[in-house]
Amino acid sequence: MLAIAAMFAACKEEKIDDQMTSGQNKKWWKEAIVYQIYPRSFKDSNGDGIGDLRGIIDQIDYLKGLGITAIWLNPIYSSPNADNGYDVSDYRNIHQDFGDLQTFDSLLVKLHEAGIKLIMDIVVNHSSDEHEWFKQSRSSRDNPYRDYYHWWPAEKGKPAHRYSLFDASGEAWKYDTLTNAYYLHYFADKQPDLNWENPKLRQEVYDIMKFWAEKGVDGFRLDAFQFAAKDTTFPELPGDLDTNFIKYYAMQEGIHTYLKEMYDQVLSKYDVLSVAEGAGRNFEDAHLLVDEERNELNMAYAFDAVDIAKPHGYDLVHLKSVFSKWDKEFESKGWISIFLSNHDQARLVSRYGNDSEEYRALSTKMLNTFLLSMRGTPYTYYGDELGMTNIRFNTIEEYNDISAINGYKKVMNNGGDLQKYLEVLKFGSRDNGRTPMQWTSNQNADFTTGTPWLKINPNHSYINVAEQDKDSTSILNHFRAMTQLRKSTEALVYGKYECLLPEHPKAFVYTRSMPEQSTLVMLNFSKEQVNLSFPALKRADKVLINNTNGLSYKRDSITLTPYQAIIFSLK
Ligand code: GLC
Ligand code: CA
Repeated sequence: MLAIAAMFAACKEEKIDDQMTSGQNKKWWKEAIVYQIYPRSFKDSNGDGIGDLRGIIDQIDYLKGLGITAIWLNPIYSSPNADNGYDVSDYRNIHQDFGDLQTFDSLLVKLHEAGIKLIMDIVVNHSSDEHEWFKQSRSSRDNPYRDYYHWWPAEKGKPAHRYSLFDASGEAWKYDTLTNAYYLHYFADKQPDLNWENPKLRQEVYDIMKFWAEKGVDGFRLDAFQFAAKDTTFPELPGDLDTNFIKYYAMQEGIHTYLKEMYDQVLSKYDVLSVAEGAGRNFEDAHLLVDEERNELNMAYAFDAVDIAKPHGYDLVHLKSVFSKWDKEFESKGWISIFLSNHDQARLVSRYGNDSEEYRALSTKMLNTFLLSMRGTPYTYYGDELGMTNIRFNTIEEYNDISAINGYKKVMNNGGDLQKYLEVLKFGSRDNGRTPMQWTSNQNADFTTGTPWLKINPNHSYINVAEQDKDSTSILNHFRAMTQLRKSTEALVYGKYECLLPEHPKAFVYTRSMPEQSTLVMLNFSKEQVNLSFPALKRADKVLINNTNGLSYKRDSITLTPYQAIIFSLK
């Protein structure tokens, strides 16, 4: 191992000395540490089993104590909850499960008092079929709202196939008897796609965004927005559409016109963060979204790294190369988001670390060290600061998520292997990442006094805030130390990133450097001991953070214990 390490290090050493700062100007949203809250699952204040805004207000001290600087809330608007709020029926109202506008206003004031910003989820590729617009739209062909959605008159025959991500049949066109026409839904049939070619619809969206911006929210996450523009002649698409839908759906003509308009009307008028879900098909697409002089968005999430984890593991060299490529590409232009988990993924430690009793704590701390020491705005998903794990349901009845349930139906309709599908869900289902927050070891983890909307992970008996709060060596306290370190170390935000041992199969080693400040990050992604030796080690100075209490370091070699994570300052 030593020899290999030295070999890779040799060609890299020169570059470390060339401590350039990346060509980035400073912005609060680049310095932000975002914490994502799935509101249904964070804290229930009234015993109905569903997390709510009052519950978040009650935990503002906790949020402040995490050292995060912004929260992103998954949708909290009125919704029939076909897709837990990603099907909005009133964009200017709060879902009754979560509270009301008054509670929202007070949440916003209290967050701001605590120095925490608030980012809203804007879901406008589609609405709910129970939104007034859609009710009007489907009522008659000459209704003024008809063109708010995509309709295909049945007398023209069946429309060309479009793939639906959530529909059990896989078909995104749904026939509606009322007007003898099909409507389009890229997601579930209760999520009809909005027609962005219609200027009236676009104006409605900008007005909705202004409504929230005027209230003082600090940012917008644009849900599935890369799919908003469509070729509305709806031509036949190639046969690989179902397996390659990003290629045909993402960043279609018109998208940049819409984003520029949104920027002119809304984003440029307020000091807000803007982030798109999805970064298109390639780097070029991503640059067109986020390069500053284009005046569209601040950043996007790319899924390349998030898609790497597989039930049998993943290749660290590949993971490193993905992060390195994205960093390089946006080093001096544009900005990226850093994350490995969210409400559409299973749990961080279960996918990228090791959730066995022996290594759960260490590997979660290591992953949080990683995410909070990369260049780009980091997003932490609630519970990952505790090392919450996958729940691994055994039966389909335990699931709530429409994509799991309809996916199961689809396998059933096609005569597929249901047992195998359940295994797939155990590793990857979104519900793994949606189980309620584990506050204590008490009944229902003190998430609720009622019956939780989704089963609580039984491991809350030992994975919970209360216990970790008391333990100075806990995952939670490590997370707090990492946010402090990031906030006090400019090089961890703006410093140039350089991967030192790109081919090393177990260790992820990089520097983050600015002319006046440099750090060296060493992460062992494996359960084996790893010996490293490379020239930059000689410049290692102070230990800024270490997820173990051991350190086996000599001037030019170091031994990392399983999942050890260390950051040194460099001389
Ligand atoms: C995005 C959301 C996801 C939702 C989908 C449809 O991918 O993150 O949760 O189901 O869009 O709105
Ligand atoms: Ca509640």
